[in-house]
Parts: sequence; C-alpha cells; structure tokens
Amino acid sequence: MDWHAWHAGYADPESELGRRLTVVQRQLRGALDGMPPGPIRAISVCAGQGHDIIGVLSEHPRRADVSARLVELDPQNVALAQSAARAIGLEGVEAVAADASLTDAYIGAAPADVVIVCGVFGNIAAEDIANTIEQLGQLCAPRATVIWTRHRRAPDLVAQIRAAFERAGFAELAFEDAPPFAIASNRLQRAPEPLRAGVKLFDFIGYEALWPHLSAGERTALGALFRADSSLVELVEAMRAMPYGLPSEPTVESMLLQARGTSAGKHLFLAQVLAQRFPQAEPAIVHRVHRLDRARAQELFGTAIARTIPDEGLVDVHRYLTIALDGRRIELDVTLSGEPWDGRSPLALVCGPGRDYPAGGDPDADLQALEREHCYAPARAPFLVALAAAGAPPS
Ligand SMILES: C[S@@+](CC[C@H](N)C(=O)[O-])C[C@H]1O[C@@H](n2cnc3c(N)ncnc32)[C@H](O)[C@@H]1O
Repeated sequence: MDWHAWHAGYADPESELGRRLTVVQRQLRGALDGMPPGPIRAISVCAGQGHDIIGVLSEHPRRADVSARLVELDPQNVALAQSAARAIGLEGVEAVAADASLTDAYIGAAPADVVIVCGVFGNIAAEDIANTIEQLGQLCAPRATVIWTRHRRAPDLVAQIRAAFERAGFAELAFEDAPPFAIASNRLQRAPEPLRAGVKLFDFIGYEALWPHLSAGERTALGALFRADSSLVELVEAMRAMPYGLPSEPTVESMLLQARGTSAGKHLFLAQVLAQRFPQAEPAIVHRVHRLDRARAQELFGTAIARTIPDEGLVDVHRYLTIALDGRRIELDVTLSGEPWDGRSPLALVCGPGRDYPAGGDPDADLQALEREHCYAPARAPFLVALAAAGAPPS
C-alpha cells in the first residue's frame, strides 16, 4: 500500500475520507474545548499526514497550549506533516518517523490528554485491536480522550470495539457514523498505567494482508468487498475467490475474518451485499436438497472428503442464489472459483439435480429445517468433520 498516495482522498471534502475527517476534527475540537487551562499533550498513532490534528490546531484557541507527537512510518508523510505544522507556526507539534506499534515510540510524549487512533483498527487483526485498546491506558493521562475510527464494511467490528473500550475503562463520549466509517471518542475513567517500554500493541498489516493464507490474486479479488464502487461482477468474483471451507463459527463475520466459506455463508453474504448495493438484482436465496455421490465429492473437494461419502451417497442441502438480470432470472453459484463470470450467464450449480426450496425471511432457519427433514445426520457427520478439518481446498 502506498500510504502517501492514500491521503489523496482528503483533497475532496465530500469523499469518504473527507467526510470522516470532518467528524474526527469536530470530535477533536470538542475534546480540546473541554480541557482545563494549562498544557495539553496529544499523541497520534499512525498519524499519516496529520490532517486531523494539524487542521484543528490551525484555528483552535488552545493551539499554543498543545504539544503533540505524530508517530508515522512513511517518511514522506512525516515530512509533509512536519512542514504543514511549521507552516502555520505550531511549534509544539513534532512528527516522528517511528514504529507506532511499539510503546517505545511514545516515550516522552505520554501520558497524553488526547490520543488519536484513526485509520488503524481497519488495518490490524481483531486480536490486535483488542490488545491495543487494553494497552492504551499506558499512553493516557487521567481522563484522557481517545478518538478512534473504524470502517463498517464487513466484517463490521465496531460493536466489539465499543465494548472493548468499555471493558478497558473508557466511557463513550461521542459516536458518529460517516459511512463507511464510524468515529468515536472515549474518555479514560480509571487510573492510567505508567508507560512500559517494549510493549507491542499491534502488527499493522493492512487490510489486504488480513488473510495471510490467500494468494495475491485472491486477496485482490476479495478486496472488492471493501470498496464502495465495486461492480456486480467484482462482488460475485470476490465471493468465488474466497477459498471453500468451514469457518470456525457459522457466521458471516467469521467467514470474512478467516476468508473461508461454504455455500451457506457465501450465498447468504452475497445476497445481503447485492440487496444493499444492487437492489435491482433482487437476489433470492434457494436451497436445493440433492444427493451428493462420492465421485462428485471427489471432483469438488478432493479425496479426503470424498472418502467420507457412503457408497449410496448422502442427501445434502445446497444453497445458491438467483438474481434478476436483463429481464430474466439466472442462477448464481459462487461456492467455488472457476472461469471468470461474464456478468450475464448463469454460474452453474456445483450440486447435481434435486428439489429447490426458495428461502424465506430467515434462510438459516430454513436451511436447518431442510437438513432436519431430509438429511441423515449420522451419515453426514463424518463429511462435515472432514470439511472443517481440511479447510476443503477444491481439488
Ligand atoms: C490509514 S492511514 C491513517 C493515517 C491517519 N491516521 C489518518 O487517519 O489520516 C495509516 C497510516 O499508518 C501508517 N503506518 C503503517 N504502519 C505503521 C507503523 N507501524 N507505525 C507508524 N505508522 C504506520 C501508514 O504509513 C499510514 O500513513
């Protein structure tokens, strides 16, 4: 990722980043307005070019009271932030080229009254978000305000982040949505901890690297799920590119975090995304009760899984989608990757013939009811266990 080029989004105040900046700056201004007289210390974690804090300080009455450390890795961004601060006479603002993921970067700057963590939580793993929030007290002065952002694209972790702040003793002062981002301010309500050197807060891996088991091509394809302007074809291809496999939890969130999904998760999510972004496609979920034989299982999932299929095959329930396109309805099956979709033709079902049941308002409940009615659980159990164990790379 070119983190210098990334900042170009700020040039347009109506862009997603521009609208996020407006809210971050409003919350930052509010935090400064409420500070008691005297010096104010601020820290920005992964500060980029510092548009948020430098923009606010340019005209804030407390500007002379503020000393700030902007910690940023990209040297060009550091230079731009530093010169922007100098150009408007912000003597107390220092931009440093350092690794913000280590507490060492904050020695001499902590404890701070304001800590900005913007554009970070979307680029680090969920465990690292939790760890960073737990450790944030080390950067804080008593009653410090933390301002943070996180995109709300799938997987939307904002509820978990808010809960983690509460657990770590930070009360929420403000919470706003500027789609696709959430922006919030939290105040430390407990005693801060002293800064300890050498503590690792996170690995800044970038959202594209959140799926280390994917090839570069798969990662690029899946990236379409994170872009607001993705086409219908790109979204369908993103789901097809996601490796087949059972995620650890049967939820869309787990599927996206682990980039591993079955027909059930992939089609549920695709139906939701298309209904939101391409409502004219009128996505409809369909369940097909069919018999899976060993030869087909071998073709689809490989030997280890095919071995679990009894001689007579087993009854399974497969989920797929239909969408409205050019005045007709076509079938789409994104369970596995294959030849690129032309955006017009049906995508062939990976299962054989069977009986179709259109899903209602609760597709998962419908699927479970069909499984209870038609599938023989003892015969199916080894198949499901093998699927989960293998992560089931298609053969
Ligand atoms: C999404 S941008 C956010 C920048 C800024 N906070 C904002 O909201 O405009 C993330 C920034 O983190 C920087 N970065 C990535 N890894 C870093 C690290 N380990 N230490 C410091 N900065 C890092 C990148 O260079 C990039 O400028």
